[in-house]
Amino acid sequence: MNDQANKLREIVNKVNNDNIICPIETLKTSAKVITVTSGKGGVGKTNITVNLGITLSKLGYRVVIIDADLGLANIDVVFGTMPRYTLVDVIKNGKNVMDVLCTGPKNVKFISGGSGVEELTRLSQLELENFVRNIALLDKIADVILIDTGAGISENVIRFVMAADDVVLITTPEPTAITDAYALIKAVGTRNRNKTIKLIINRTETAIEAQTAMQKLNTVSQKFLKVKLQFLGYVTNDVMVSKAVKQQKPFSLLFPDCMASKNLTEIAKKIMKTLPTAKSQEGIRGFFNKFFNGNQ
Ligand SMILES: Nc1ncnc2c1ncn2[C@@H]1O[C@H](COP(=O)(O)OP(=O)(O)O)[C@@H](O)[C@H]1O
Ligand SMILES: [Mg+2]
Repeated sequence: MNDQANKLREIVNKVNNDNIICPIETLKTSAKVITVTSGKGGVGKTNITVNLGITLSKLGYRVVIIDADLGLANIDVVFGTMPRYTLVDVIKNGKNVMDVLCTGPKNVKFISGGSGVEELTRLSQLELENFVRNIALLDKIADVILIDTGAGISENVIRFVMAADDVVLITTPEPTAITDAYALIKAVGTRNRNKTIKLIINRTETAIEAQTAMQKLNTVSQKFLKVKLQFLGYVTNDVMVSKAVKQQKPFSLLFPDCMASKNLTEIAKKIMKTLPTAKSQEGIRGFFNKFFNGNQ
């Protein structure tokens, strides 16, 4: 692994300075990588990722979504667009990452991870080189890269979480979801206590219910794990969400004035404030550097 890590650092630096890959000045900027995750499945991760992407795009940001949910990858279902290729084609079949990108509504781009997400941890040297070289291109076309992970605390999910610039944790106010969210916070906290976790409470009936759930989680996390949570906001339990899902269209497009869309706009504006102007972050290249090195 150490050899692999050193080699990777070399590749990353090379990609950085490579004129063929970075032909113009603007290519020096990089994207903010935000991993969206949850302890429990079915809490609204995919819907929030997609609609957050669309809302950020409406606000003028260039967004790429990577669908990294191994089991229930379904960004494409919510977008209503079936991708022809997945990350596997980049890793194994020599496809350029740009050819694997799909364009969803509001020009939000997305990549389906497929089984490529699992493959990532067992790449050969050549595959690793090609992958990093390729994926680094995303920094040039995106301000924000949202990664939708699977639920739970598998090694794979934790890697996606620990390597991210920002972690957004989704939970509902239900006790089972809160317990699983706590398990995820614990898994993160034991690796890096200073990693900030941003929380969205989904499917709440009232703002007070969201605040209560947040406070509960924050209190136990601070007390037992010494991990501090940041409250990003809440999304109302809104029948328009499932209506939109049935039509395979993002709710923020179909029903821009529904409560859930309004809530998400508030959240997107909060996230916007944390987006640096440019050049100050390592982008997706830095993300995968950490991902492969196991750094936090
Ligand atoms: N805010 C919400 N209001 C109403 N229903 C919701 C909301 N968020 C999610 N849902 C419902 O939950 C289902 C699962 O959401 P999804 O985003 O696929 O979860 P996950 O990606 O966490 O598995 C959706 O199909 C939708 O019907
Ligand atoms: Mg999902």
